[in-house]
Amino acid sequence: MKVTYQEKHRPQYHFSPAKNWLNDPNGMVYFNGEYHLFYQHHPFGTTWGPMHWGHAISKDLVHWEHQPIALEPDEHGAIFSGSAVVDWNNTTGFFPDEPGLVAIYTSAGTYPDSERPRQRQSIAYSKDSGRTWIKYEGNPVLSDENITDYRDPKVFWHEETDKWVMVLATGQSLMFYTSPNLIDWEFASEFGNTAGSHAGVWECPDLFRLPVDGDEHRQKWVLLVSIGDNHDFKEGSRTQYFVGEFDGSVFVNDNSDETILWLDYGRDNYAGVSWSDIPSTDGRRIYIGWMSNWRYANLVPTKGWRSAMTLPRELSLVSCEEGVRLVQKPVEEVKVLRNKTDIYENLIVEAHGSIYDLVSDSLEIVAEFEVQDASVFGIILRNANGEKLVVSYDVGKEILAVDRTHAGDNSFSDSFAAVQEAKVNAVGSKVKLQIFLDASTIEVFANDGEAAFTSLVFPKEAYQELQLFAEDGTVKIESLKLTEMKSIWGA
Ligand code: FRU
Repeated sequence: MKVTYQEKHRPQYHFSPAKNWLNDPNGMVYFNGEYHLFYQHHPFGTTWGPMHWGHAISKDLVHWEHQPIALEPDEHGAIFSGSAVVDWNNTTGFFPDEPGLVAIYTSAGTYPDSERPRQRQSIAYSKDSGRTWIKYEGNPVLSDENITDYRDPKVFWHEETDKWVMVLATGQSLMFYTSPNLIDWEFASEFGNTAGSHAGVWECPDLFRLPVDGDEHRQKWVLLVSIGDNHDFKEGSRTQYFVGEFDGSVFVNDNSDETILWLDYGRDNYAGVSWSDIPSTDGRRIYIGWMSNWRYANLVPTKGWRSAMTLPRELSLVSCEEGVRLVQKPVEEVKVLRNKTDIYENLIVEAHGSIYDLVSDSLEIVAEFEVQDASVFGIILRNANGEKLVVSYDVGKEILAVDRTHAGDNSFSDSFAAVQEAKVNAVGSKVKLQIFLDASTIEVFANDGEAAFTSLVFPKEAYQELQLFAEDGTVKIESLKLTEMKSIWGA
């Protein structure tokens, strides 16, 4: 019998650790038909501690098999975040027989005889598809005594210059390095001191190229940067992105320094990065994020395990009036989890509209609204404890809001109760919401991924009903689909 992870608040179709603490996704790489997901893990406690790389493998991005710990702390320190790549051409010399995996991560320790933190980059390699890892004897491979926050290397092969590129978080900026062999690194450039949001320390960067509007001849580079918690900002930790050009050594931002682009408008999507080595025949850029926030990550009311990942999301670029923007939607593989769907069509909703019983708290809800004369409309999920999670659209302001102020337990942090908002334009007169509810997590994708909201909620008991509502008039629901989602565990 396989374990089915039935603890209170435990998501059933999102990845979470078998037990204990999880934070950032790390080292995601596709190799020999397997998706690897490593993650920041404290195997002996439910709060952040000495970091290891936990590991899981999936053949379909949906069902995961937990693996033994991949990397443990050593004489260089704990194993902080980083990436992994396939060394197809044996640039390292580690793979004389056949290609294998190289992990590039931060060794987080202290200077000798001192408490002063020291962060340096190390590598490890695997000749058995990620099952076991050998740390490179010459570690660390990159260090800089003058920079304290010096971490989270994301590495990829840059075809045009025939080099590995590393993007590293360096306090309030990013630094780019290049290498022929993943061992010898050369500084290339620095980006970001004056650009975007500096509300917190910069962490967990990622850099990749995507076609704009699906046009392979028009490509742009996307630079993701997570920014840490700062008590002056109510949002806590969050992730921004830049769009621009990259020539193998320098990133040029297309937007003004003042432009801030957020990846997600919910509070709980942090430190996300994308998979390496997805075959070009697939061509997708697939991303996963950590569903929590440093403001309260150590405090959320779960027992025995802590934190889960977002659904894997496909990223793409679209051009709109304001410029080129990132769009994200759950990968299509998630569809295999759909169990039974109830469909309701052409409903006119007025004031407190119809109520639907929910059979499960593992749900996909897809609602297509057509704006009529209501000023605000939306969906309420509620339980018998009077707890409610409200997703609403304000037609005049064109604002979509995910309100968790009364959605469940907020007591563990003053920052938790929140209304999460973003500008969302109706398309014609339509607003489409795709919502994934999974115990203590909710992901809302508006208008096919133009805006995403990822949010935790801790209801005392599952939401048992869904209510549609409209204020000051009516809204038409072209269709409402309620789908029970299967668990990824067990069976
Ligand atoms: C981001 C982060 C990284 C660091 C890791 C430590 O959440 O702070 O910068 O490598 O977590 O667990």
